[in-house]
Amino acid sequence: MQEVLKKTFDVEAIRKDFPVLSRKVNGKELVYLDNGATAQKPKVVIDRIQQYYNLENANIHRGVHTLSQEATSAYEDSRRKMKEFINARFSEEIIFTSGTTGGINLVASAFGQTHIQEGDEILISTMEHHSNIVPWQMICEQKGANLKVIPINDKGEIQMEEFETLLTERTKLLSISHISNTLGTINPVKEMIAKAHEKHISVLVDGAQAVPHMRLDMQDLDVDLYVFSLHKMFGPTGVGVLYGKKELLDSLPPYQGGGDMIKTVSFKKTTYNDLPHKFEAGTPNIADGIACGALIDYLEELDWAAISLHEKDLLSYAHEQLAAIEGLRFIGEAERKASVISFVIEGIHSYDLGVLIDKMGVAVRTGHHCTQPLMDRFGILGTVRASFAFYNTMEEVDRLVEAVKRAKGMLL
Ligand code: ALA
Repeated sequence: MQEVLKKTFDVEAIRKDFPVLSRKVNGKELVYLDNGATAQKPKVVIDRIQQYYNLENANIHRGVHTLSQEATSAYEDSRRKMKEFINARFSEEIIFTSGTTGGINLVASAFGQTHIQEGDEILISTMEHHSNIVPWQMICEQKGANLKVIPINDKGEIQMEEFETLLTERTKLLSISHISNTLGTINPVKEMIAKAHEKHISVLVDGAQAVPHMRLDMQDLDVDLYVFSLHKMFGPTGVGVLYGKKELLDSLPPYQGGGDMIKTVSFKKTTYNDLPHKFEAGTPNIADGIACGALIDYLEELDWAAISLHEKDLLSYAHEQLAAIEGLRFIGEAERKASVISFVIEGIHSYDLGVLIDKMGVAVRTGHHCTQPLMDRFGILGTVRASFAFYNTMEEVDRLVEAVKRAKGMLL
């Protein structure tokens, strides 16, 4: 069965859909392994943005003229496609945001204002990105609430017993990453959501790193709120999604005031629009929102079971090859991992290694990856991170390993 699936997955054909993958960097064929920071875009998405600005540019939700009607309909089509893609119940459960950070800040403000009181607790984990830490610290400071942190083990996995102990009658929200951007750990979010729900605690999942690697199913997860960015799932920057259960979103106040989010405005009293518009004040990122529809059409055509096997192969091959380098230590060795590898090499600063291997055409991310508390947990300043996407190849793993070996030789 696995062999059959692999045969249906033609990585060389897929690479042709992504124009940037055929460029050279510093005279070498580009090896792009910084997909965790942002993924590359297929031509269909780039073309859709160009088509909108060339032929269709108009504002949405407010014009009677043809262009505006067409743009509105394309934008709302994207919302409907997204609803299908992540198996939400209703289109109005899809709120377009500026990205994952925008989504978390929206929830922190709207949920925080109404559901968080003095002495309440918000629960996150040690491996969170700063964008899933700082908004909660801000609301805790405003409300006199407390931020609690689930510890992780040395492999970079959530400590489930500690997690359960931290779910108390004071906990009002669990906010947890689906996949760690630094470690690649796939957290058992479905199980965690069920445990939180047993105690009537709402759950927000940060899916920024999950969307490029797996198909999502909001109803199967039974998650209350889920956020992600389009640019990490091969779409444009500046658009994201906040999914929320309709009843919960209905119960929250608006985040920002302005056009589109109102029903009526007078100096005495303003009434707010229905979902999803209540949370979408002002002119949105129309072109990129429309391109989201083209992106979903593209992603729907891919064989996700085959992608998953291909990414597993990339991960285990890279792991095996890098492990042979003396002095190299992996940071994050969870049992369930996405195709993300972080490592340090004794005596070498991650920045120096990153700069040198870039000269060999290999793009990785170095540093703390916006997870400073996680770096503290492992007692390091930063890592080198190679994050793979479905268009990466085994030959690119070889190029990475070769580049790391050469750079190590130059630096030590
Ligand atoms: N959060 C992004 C990353 O991990 C930017 O690289």
